[in-house]
Amino acid sequence: MQAQTAYKFILWTLVTLSSLTSQGWAVKCAAGDHAPTVNQTQVGVGSPPKFLVEIRNNCPMCPVINVHLKCGNFPQALVNPRLLKVLGSDDCVVNAGLPLQPLQKLSFNYSHNKFLLRPAIWYFQCE
Ligand SMILES: *[C@@H]1O[C@H](CO)[C@@H](O)[C@H](O)[C@H]1NC(C)=O
Ligand SMILES: *[C@@H]1O[C@H](CO)[C@@H](O)[C@H](O)[C@H]1NC(C)=O
Repeated sequence: MQAQTAYKFILWTLVTLSSLTSQGWAVKCAAGDHAPTVNQTQVGVGSPPKFLVEIRNNCPMCPVINVHLKCGNFPQALVNPRLLKVLGSDDCVVNAGLPLQPLQKLSFNYSHNKFLLRPAIWYFQCE
């Protein structure tokens, strides 16, 4: 019985290792590779102008979680906190830190003079 358990464990280890090797780390997304992007397009003129923000997980393989943006003094009142939550000065979290699926895009508009928004940290969940 114990021998069988040990055998199963060894088999499991081999299968796991070989699947890691054959799928390869190259096709997965590493931290600096396939970084999420934030696009802003002006969609309304006037005072204040209106901007469409599109945040995309550019990894075709893996969800990304805990995406934080450098967001300056972006006011929470401009956006639903489920989409972008202001945590502090220059720190906002996307989608409440929950996963963006591979190539998923999250969009919202705000009406204000433009704020610079750019990705600060994120974690890929490659399995
Ligand atoms: C951002 O804009 C560029 C150029 O306009 C476009 O190629 C890219 O697909 C856009 N990305 C997103 C997330 O919309
Ligand atoms: C943003 O505003 C544009 C133009 O007013 C509108 O077409 C678009 O549906 C809005 N998008 C979102 C995500 O609210």
